[in-house]
Amino acid sequence: MASPPIKRLLRVLAGETLSPPPWWLMRQAGRYLPEYRELRGQAADFIELCLTPTLAAELTMQPVRRFGMDAAILFSDILMLPYALGQGLAYREGEGPVLEAITGHADIARLNAVGALARLEPVLITVDRVRRALGPQTALIGFAGAPWTVATYMVEGGSSRDFHKVKGWAYRDPQGFDALLGVLTGATIDLLTAEIAAGAEAVQLFDTWAGALPASGFARWVIEPTRQIVAALQARHPGCPIIGFPRGAGILYAKYAVETGVDAVGLDTTVPPEYARTRLGQRVALQGNLDPVLLLTGGAALAAAVRDLKQSLGGSRWIFNLGHGVLPETPPDHVAELARMLSEPMGCG
Ligand code: CP3
Repeated sequence: MASPPIKRLLRVLAGETLSPPPWWLMRQAGRYLPEYRELRGQAADFIELCLTPTLAAELTMQPVRRFGMDAAILFSDILMLPYALGQGLAYREGEGPVLEAITGHADIARLNAVGALARLEPVLITVDRVRRALGPQTALIGFAGAPWTVATYMVEGGSSRDFHKVKGWAYRDPQGFDALLGVLTGATIDLLTAEIAAGAEAVQLFDTWAGALPASGFARWVIEPTRQIVAALQARHPGCPIIGFPRGAGILYAKYAVETGVDAVGLDTTVPPEYARTRLGQRVALQGNLDPVLLLTGGAALAAAVRDLKQSLGGSRWIFNLGHGVLPETPPDHVAELARMLSEPMGCG
């Protein structure tokens, strides 16, 4: 029998309610930290940064060292998977990621699912290094993009506003599109299995664009691949908790929480905490969901919002986080202030 977890994040994922809540932030490593900007210059580009274990491990540790979060999240990117599958990828300054867009069956056939994990070996080495370096209180979270969200970047050729290409393909040729998601689902299972074997103690699936699909597409391309990933991980690494983040899912959050089998759901900024507590909190642990703009704003607005969130979710299985990633302009002092507010006992914050 495995002994019960000691790390606060893992305790909540295993079913406990803790006060104060454990916390970490999506994009807690990144450009808002001066020490990130300094190290960033040591790699030729962002891909090299992700694939150099000494640098990636140090970047993973930076926010934890500065602010004492309850979890570190592996420093990598969801687009390392398409890169490892052989798709051309570059990150352009101010423009975000640019991929060699894939458009159909012939492109899917060229993806190298067999060799992908070998190309991601440096990421697994990073996981191992960070796990050894972390203190006994801090959990290590591994992650991957969910197949739908990764597919949006692969088909659109980068970030998109309207998703016309990827949805056009999915609607015109659902079986062909299923084949792409099938490749991504298998590769994601392999990647997350390897991250857990290397030392990740929980994993998060980022489905940033889950909200771009209508209900039928959500069932087929968000819920179903996620359900398959969760089932496979539970078979291979029973007891390793899985957090799903179906950003923008709206009222479909409830279906997601029931049908995917995830242990926790990441709430985006728009989900009312009371709704989450009463409608989702019976089934899964809750994670979220302070507006990142409040962290950017700081001051009285931040303090009031943190107090409100503690009041709504403090009695639930709750992990404090933002509703989306830390914005690059965020003053690090605001994160320090947040850490202080979160550590105050309930009711006095
Ligand atoms: O600290 C952490 O959260 C861990 C590292 C991490 C990064 N990206 C580093 C990164 C994680 C978990 C991600 C996930 C990710 N990547 C998502 C899902 C979460 C979300 O934000 O919705 C998505 C959609 C991506 C794809 C991606 N990567 C985009 C669109 C961009 C460019 C836009 C941007 O915000 O810069 C990236 C680049 C990226 N990934 C940076 C970092 C720190 C910035 C690189 C730089 O310019 O230094």
